[in-house]
Amino acid sequence: MIDVLPGGLTARHLVEGDHPRVLAVLDTWWGGLKGPAGALERSLLLPRLYFQHFTTTSFLVEGDEGQADGGQPDEGKVAAFLVGFLSQTDPDAAYVHFVGVDPQLHGQGIGRALYRAFFALARSHGRRYVHCITSPQNTASQAFHARLGFTVSTMKPDYDGPGLDRVAFTIDLDAHPVHLASE
Ligand SMILES: CC(C)(COP(=O)(O)OP(=O)(O)OC[C@H]1O[C@@H](n2cnc3c(N)ncnc32)[C@H](O)[C@@H]1OP(=O)(O)O)[C@@H](O)C(=O)NCCC(=O)NCCS
Repeated sequence: MIDVLPGGLTARHLVEGDHPRVLAVLDTWWGGLKGPAGALERSLLLPRLYFQHFTTTSFLVEGDEGQADGGQPDEGKVAAFLVGFLSQTDPDAAYVHFVGVDPQLHGQGIGRALYRAFFALARSHGRRYVHCITSPQNTASQAFHARLGFTVSTMKPDYDGPGLDRVAFTIDLDAHPVHLASE
């Protein structure tokens, strides 16, 4: 499902039972970004419905069976996730709603691998553009998406409501460098 992952990790589509497991890692993985208000924002961004109705376009990476004996990562431990979907409105578009990688596993290509898998899935459904957003404070996310080839917008004030400014990313998969997209 995901071709290149560090040893001891496997990927699969989300299931409903993953909801509490993913919610449980958000605060740590986002490093408390924007304090308690940020924590509430993040948890409200991932209601259970994503784990019911968007499972086939979303991914979870976790520790393999047999890795629990001191091996890293631990068996069954959530290592990364990507929640995305195909646009219901725009037949050319797909959307990555939320993505996260365990901080202990940053910089090993897991985020890129998740996006590659999503790009391939979007392409297989005839989608050309992938969109996503982040908060202006999340400079790491902006750097990551820019590195993957996304165009990064200027800050959009009140994009998600009063005081909820956002930066938007878009990538055109037709113009996308071959090394980033699974063919
Ligand atoms: C952003 C995030 C998903 C990146 O995951 P990752 O697995 O560490 O990223 P990768 O190892 O696949 O990196 C892919 C490329 O992006 C670059 N990159 C990743 N994080 C970066 C950062 N913080 N600053 C600059 N570049 C970065 C990598 O260097 C790599 O480029 P390279 O191929 O030239 O080496 C991860 O840092 C994360 O989960 N952050 C917290 C949650 C978050 O902010 N999510 C996104 C907003 S919803």
